[in-house]
Amino acid sequence: MRIGVMTGGGDCPGLNAVIRAVVRKSIVDFGHECVGIMQGWKGLVECLTCELNLRSISGILPRGGTILGTSRTNPFSKAHYKEHAPQKILDNWQRVGLDALIAVGGDDTHAVSYELSKMGLSIVGVPKTIDNDIRGTEYTFGFDTAVHVASEAIDRVHSTAESHHRVIVVEVMGRRTGWIALYSGIAGGADVVIVPEFEVTLAEICDMIKKRHARGKSFSICVVAEGARINFGGSPEAREVTIDQSIDEFGNVRLGGIGQRLAREIERELKFETRFTVLGHVQRGGTPTAFDRVLGTRFGIKAAELVHKRQFGRMVALQNNEIVSIPFSETIGTPKYVTEEWYDVARTFFG
Ligand code: F6P
Repeated sequence: MRIGVMTGGGDCPGLNAVIRAVVRKSIVDFGHECVGIMQGWKGLVECLTCELNLRSISGILPRGGTILGTSRTNPFSKAHYKEHAPQKILDNWQRVGLDALIAVGGDDTHAVSYELSKMGLSIVGVPKTIDNDIRGTEYTFGFDTAVHVASEAIDRVHSTAESHHRVIVVEVMGRRTGWIALYSGIAGGADVVIVPEFEVTLAEICDMIKKRHARGKSFSICVVAEGARINFGGSPEAREVTIDQSIDEFGNVRLGGIGQRLAREIERELKFETRFTVLGHVQRGGTPTAFDRVLGTRFGIKAAELVHKRQFGRMVALQNNEIVSIPFSETIGTPKYVTEEWYDVARTFFG
């Protein structure tokens, strides 16, 4: 078989571990051939390919990012490609001589894989995202590394917040879900954690900080997910904070700025000196943790096995620490949200 390997959507640490495992398993154990599809779905629409053999995967395990490149290209977006992009994919599939594709990506990538599967293409999905929000899998690789980076940053701002008697707001990634904020907030001992799933008001946040200061503490750490909704007052409903009106190539709004806004409002309301820091893409870069390397490797091997057995239209997943696979239809749509039970763990330490 000639197997295409593609990485789509935002990059994350551990993608190279998947590529390495897929190539190694497919070539050495099954005698197949691999070809790299570059820059996500853009690579299939525009026929951008590269060699993918044992030489190309040498030394990539500890490297962040993806050797194949990525993009947020949506071939079904009429705004971007007009109608013919899916047809171009079908044409290039023949041209490259693909028998199967392993598409590594997040919810956007799997939604496209699902549509293309319905059109007859043989695709296996591998879930990735630092947000850890893909339904059907307990973890995605990239998340552990992001949490590690964010927790370390929270530890660091702790000491400076304490020295200066300040409130410090740390904005972390998390578009629709607050897993990174939750985990890094718990691990870093945050005093307030705000996630998209649970709306809060500015007054509630300020009350928690006041309560803490009333206990004699002179500093506070507040972790906020970029997609969190805070009701700052003045409008009936809380809204996301966006950088501007722009959307990315896939059609997602560009979030960012909630940390800055929150810091300003806390200072105005409480008269406590407040600073903010935005961790941004630092969370997505660099070498993957051992956990992410191992998970990526296990996912890659399972994906190669599914292709070998011709079990297409499925995404590999982690359930009860076993690597399983589920149909695409079960992974797309609603994200895996932070539950009340999980949020309660963080809440125990609020204020
Ligand atoms: O989907 C992962 C993610 O890191 C989100 O947490 C974040 O909102 C988004 O990607 C940022 O995307 P970009 O790299 O395109 O700015």
